[in-house]
Amino acid sequence: MSANALYTDLSGYYDLMCADIDYQAQSNCVHRLHQIFGNDGKKHLDLACGTGPHVRHFLDFGYHSSGLDINQPMLDIAKTRCPEAQFSLQNMSDFSVAEPVDLITCFLYSIHYSDGLEKLQDCLARVHSALKAGGVFCFNVVDKNKIDNDLFVRHSAKQAEAVFTFSSGWNYCGEGEKKSLKLSIEKASAADTQIWHDEHAMLALSFAQLIETLQCHFDIHIFEHDYEKIIPWDKLSGNAIFVCVKI
Ligand SMILES: C[S@@+](CC[C@H](N)C(=O)[O-])C[C@H]1O[C@@H](n2cnc3c(N)ncnc32)[C@H](O)[C@@H]1O
Repeated sequence: MSANALYTDLSGYYDLMCADIDYQAQSNCVHRLHQIFGNDGKKHLDLACGTGPHVRHFLDFGYHSSGLDINQPMLDIAKTRCPEAQFSLQNMSDFSVAEPVDLITCFLYSIHYSDGLEKLQDCLARVHSALKAGGVFCFNVVDKNKIDNDLFVRHSAKQAEAVFTFSSGWNYCGEGEKKSLKLSIEKASAADTQIWHDEHAMLALSFAQLIETLQCHFDIHIFEHDYEKIIPWDKLSGNAIFVCVKI
């Protein structure tokens, strides 16, 4: 399966795969963080927006939301979900906006799709120039030094007459700037069982590297990866929400 299969050929299964993700809670939390740290503006851009679930919530909060993604099949679904939003086919390492925005988000660890540290730096420079004064960039991220290769997230969902079981987990060999995302989708019906396996590379970085990269552009606030409560990062956990205010 190609690196992009989940977001192209299998894009029709993406929302089913994410059925247990609480997009409402994630959006509420980031909206709250934006109220605390932001500039009161309502122009929003979601990087790597996928099928647009966060864009939907931000529109419903009253934002003028837009999204970009590198895979058109994901954007086609996003446009159906959010007909009033603007979507564009762009790479987050090399994107531009027609007008600056107040809030840029990047959810579900999609920042790790930057193709190496240099591309991440390019992305952060683009984010900085796309934000208005006092604008906020909010994303979640994992520290490569805290990855547990044995940890997998698994869930099942029924669609039509088939039961789908989705599984995903990170794998990091302990050195370098690449980790992989291991995915599998099993479709079991009365007739047969089909299984897709995928493993694709993503950027591995430490929080120390990330903070060093961000601090010339932003004031950085880091929180525990908990969308129900806003809790300052304990400096130990390897899973966090970064809130970066444009300097
Ligand atoms: C895990 S999905 C997350 C989608 C959505 N943010 C969500 O929370 O459901 C990752 C998304 O990143 C997109 N993507 C991967 N590399 C990208 C890049 N370089 N620029 C923009 N989007 C990218 C994929 O097409 C996919 O839609």
